[in-house]
Amino acid sequence: MKKFAVVFTAAVLAVSVVAAFAATDALVGACIYKFDDTFMTGVRNAMRAEMDKQGGELEIVDSQNRQPMQNDQVDAYISKGANALIVNPVDRTAAEPLMNKAKVEGLPIVFVNREPYAEVMNAYDKIWYVGAKAEESGTQSGQIIADYFKANPKADRNGDGKIQYIMIRGEQGHQDATLRTEFSTKAMKDAGFEIVELGNDTANWDKVQATDKMKGFISAVGIDAIEAVLANNDDMALGAIEALKAEGYNMGDPAKYIPVVGVDATAPALEAMKDGSMLGTVLNDADNQGYAAVRVAVLAADGKPVTEESIGYKITDGKYIWIPYRPVTVDNYQELMK
Ligand code: GAL
Ligand code: CA
Repeated sequence: MKKFAVVFTAAVLAVSVVAAFAATDALVGACIYKFDDTFMTGVRNAMRAEMDKQGGELEIVDSQNRQPMQNDQVDAYISKGANALIVNPVDRTAAEPLMNKAKVEGLPIVFVNREPYAEVMNAYDKIWYVGAKAEESGTQSGQIIADYFKANPKADRNGDGKIQYIMIRGEQGHQDATLRTEFSTKAMKDAGFEIVELGNDTANWDKVQATDKMKGFISAVGIDAIEAVLANNDDMALGAIEALKAEGYNMGDPAKYIPVVGVDATAPALEAMKDGSMLGTVLNDADNQGYAAVRVAVLAADGKPVTEESIGYKITDGKYIWIPYRPVTVDNYQELMK
């Protein structure tokens, strides 16, 4: 019996040693819509870490927020013989020509974070999408605000029973901006609140633009009227907090505090939760999005089947890998600090 156990263990080890050496030599070419984006930098780092484990080659280029530049980058990857592509499109409505370039070559293509239209996803068999359901993040961020108002009746600063809020949206046309805006307001209403929008504008995912927009809202409606700020991502939430701080708000005085929520759970957002200037956020899981994208690309590049077992993530309709969001509040943010 004992002897059998020893032999069995040895056999298992031998298999795992073989697996460890059966590294890929695939070349995967990736384009990121722009490097200067906090959340996508997290995805990029995770892609790199996963490829280091897999042993293949991963090239990543910055599309500098220009779609024509990204199209050229894809052409360049194809001419140098890349075995698979990972694309975070600049403009998700412009994914079709990229899909076609891959299709003509029979090259696998994995889109991340900016979801191509269903027609494009359905027009090719070696296409995948790795992302997250923006509805979830919208719902969770709206619920964080609603929970705060339930637990803190004084948050209703004018005592009218309604939530007077500011909405700061991400880039126009991005599914995450549209759906987070829609579902965060819906969640406050579903929680039983009447809501009043005092201001709503885009700041293109950008912290500096959000500070400007928030300063504009403060001068338009007055700081006393604002009871909550919802931003479609953390960089913009942090930008709004800068504008609040300039008015002496969210700096420790409980009488001068306006709850602000974002989405992503970036390191600076977790820091802001720690120092008390930001109420909450939603984890947009950059690590798992990056790992999943590289696993799919490598397997497909090597001509191996892409299955739930082979990638370790759930696959919907054969081509969508949805990484779940998670609410992040004062109760659990510390678990995410690296
Ligand atoms: C969103 C993320 C934003 C921004 C955007 C880029 O999912 O929340 O912070 O990174 O993607 O497409
Ligand atoms: Ca109110």
